[in-house]
Amino acid sequence: MKTGIYPGTFDPITLGHLDIVQRSLRLVDRLVIAVTLNSHKSNTFSAEERVEMIRESLAERNLDLEVEVFDGLLVEYARRIKAQVIFRGLRAVSDFEYEFQMALMNKKMAPEVEEVFLTPDQQYIYLSSSLVKEVASLGGKVSDLVTPAVERRLLQRLGS
Ligand code: COA
Repeated sequence: MKTGIYPGTFDPITLGHLDIVQRSLRLVDRLVIAVTLNSHKSNTFSAEERVEMIRESLAERNLDLEVEVFDGLLVEYARRIKAQVIFRGLRAVSDFEYEFQMALMNKKMAPEVEEVFLTPDQQYIYLSSSLVKEVASLGGKVSDLVTPAVERRLLQRLGS
C-alpha cells in the first residue's frame, strides 16, 4: 500500500491546497494531511482550528482522509507513519528555490522518502493563505478561494 503525506501549515486550507489533495489521491492508496506545529510563521489559527477547518472542508467534498498534527522533522514523521511519498504543491517559479532546498535536505535525511511536486490548477497559482486572510480582513470576497467552512471562520476571526 502506498502512503503519501501532504504537509503544510494550512493557516487556513484553501481551494488550492484541496486541489493538490485531489491530485495526490490519484497517486497513493492512503493520504495523510499533516499539519505542522513547527511553523516559522505566526499563525492566525491554532493547530486544532486548522485541523478542524481541514476536516470540515474535506467533509464538504465527501473526502474521508486522515488529518494529523505533527511536531519535529517531517521526515521523521513520514517514517513513523510509513509514508513513501511527500507531496508538495509548486505554484510558481518563486516557490521553486524554497521547495528545492527543503526537498534536498529531506532527501539527505531520509533518502527512502520520495518528494513529489504537483502543480495546482491555473486558477489557484496566485493563491496563498496570507492573501486570503488579507482579502477577508479587508472585507473582500473569498468564497471562490476557500470552502464555506473556512470562509465562516475567516469572517468570525478577521471580518470587520
Ligand atoms: N494552494 C494555495 N496556497 C498554497 C499552495 C496551494 N496549492 N501550496 C502552498 N501554498 C501557500 C500556503 O498557503 C502558504 O501561504 P502563506 O505563506 O501565505 O501562509 C505558502 O504557500 C507555503 O505554505 P505551506 O505549503 O503550508 O508550507 P510551509 O512553508 O508553511 O510549511 C512544511 C512547509 C510544513 C512542509 C515545512 O515547514 C516542514 O517540513 N516543517 C517541519 C519541520 C522540518 O522538517 N523542517 C526541515 C525541512 S527541510
